[in-house]
Amino acid sequence: MNGEGCGQRRPPEKTADRPRGELQSPEELSSLVRELTVSVWAFAALACADEAGLLEELFEPRSLTDLAERTSLPVPIVSAVVDILVSLGLVRPEAGPVFVAEPVLAPALGGPERSVLRAELRSNLLQSVQMVTDARRGRLAPGWLPADPLVLHAQGDRSAFLPAAWIEHVFPALDGLLERLAGTRASFLDVGVGVARLTIGLCSRFPTLTAVGLDPLAQVLSEARANVEAHSLANRVELRRGRVEDLEDRSAFDLVHIPAMFLSPSTLRAGLSRIQAALRPGGWVLIQTLTPQDDSLASAVVRLWCTLWGGESLSLRQVVTLLNLEGFESAKAFPALSGLPIGHAAGRRPLCWSSGAHPVLRRRLGVKPSVSEPEGNPPNFPQK
Ligand SMILES: C[S@@+](CC[C@H](N)C(=O)[O-])C[C@H]1O[C@@H](n2cnc3c(N)ncnc32)[C@H](O)[C@@H]1O
Repeated sequence: MNGEGCGQRRPPEKTADRPRGELQSPEELSSLVRELTVSVWAFAALACADEAGLLEELFEPRSLTDLAERTSLPVPIVSAVVDILVSLGLVRPEAGPVFVAEPVLAPALGGPERSVLRAELRSNLLQSVQMVTDARRGRLAPGWLPADPLVLHAQGDRSAFLPAAWIEHVFPALDGLLERLAGTRASFLDVGVGVARLTIGLCSRFPTLTAVGLDPLAQVLSEARANVEAHSLANRVELRRGRVEDLEDRSAFDLVHIPAMFLSPSTLRAGLSRIQAALRPGGWVLIQTLTPQDDSLASAVVRLWCTLWGGESLSLRQVVTLLNLEGFESAKAFPALSGLPIGHAAGRRPLCWSSGAHPVLRRRLGVKPSVSEPEGNPPNFPQK
């Protein structure tokens, strides 16, 4: 996994989406900081409107006084926040004077998009503040270790849209998977289960599916347990404390999901080897990866997230190569869903190991080699 995304990337041509060397005076630096300041406060004002219930109230045209009464915010604060929402193009003033949400905001004020919007706002604000606090205290290190349950739930909610997207865009391209998931023995492993949003989403859509949710963090698993119980899925979901690189299940799952951005490359490789054995023959592994496209500031931010979460941003090409190296068949890539930098790649455990799988893989799976098989590793099959 050398090359891009592993700390050996070529330094970006641009910083802050400006040509290098463009910032030359202290005034220009101050102007850059002011620009960034405006984004931070606009984002915080939107989050404030969300947390105070102002966004919902703006669904109907309302005066500032009415909004203040309904949200228990002081009128001057409501006025200042609404002013920012108007500047962002999310709210418009009407005669009266009253204010109302623009149609673009309507879907995000109800239905599943509501929790995704809140999750994006909370997750980004709380995680960025945590990063700065940890840096000040000299304890900033890569790895997913949030103490705040709000962050855990927000991060889970960010992924809540994925099961529906997988069913629509990914699973139909994975031979036999939809039939397996609808079968009576259907079984799913969610590596890095977090608060179990993905597991709950899939179990809700496939009524016979049972699942194992794996995570090393006890606190995360207790939040997941409460979520699973709230969805009456305790009898179908086993929440297990552990790490993917220690997985010992054999031929147990039809589908395994693994989020690459939370795992170091060496853990990902060790995990894929275990997953190969844990899948039923013909079962699929689905790898989620955040895939920055270029050297823009936005892509640099995505790479920062992955680093903070203990992983790396891997391109789909890198993930497909890894699947091939680890002996998965029919590896396929699914580029970004809904314009987000989230890509997926899937690979299948071969249906039959005796026809074509290399003995190294078979030894890893505990399959006895036949006398005629050569020893050693095939070319280009890296050692662990
Ligand atoms: C934040 S979650 C992803 C969100 C999740 N989809 C949800 O619904 O909440 C990623 C999880 O991966 C877990 N993780 C990190 N390293 C792991 C490993 N080696 N094996 C299994 N899980 C791991 C982290 O503890 C974290 O809870």
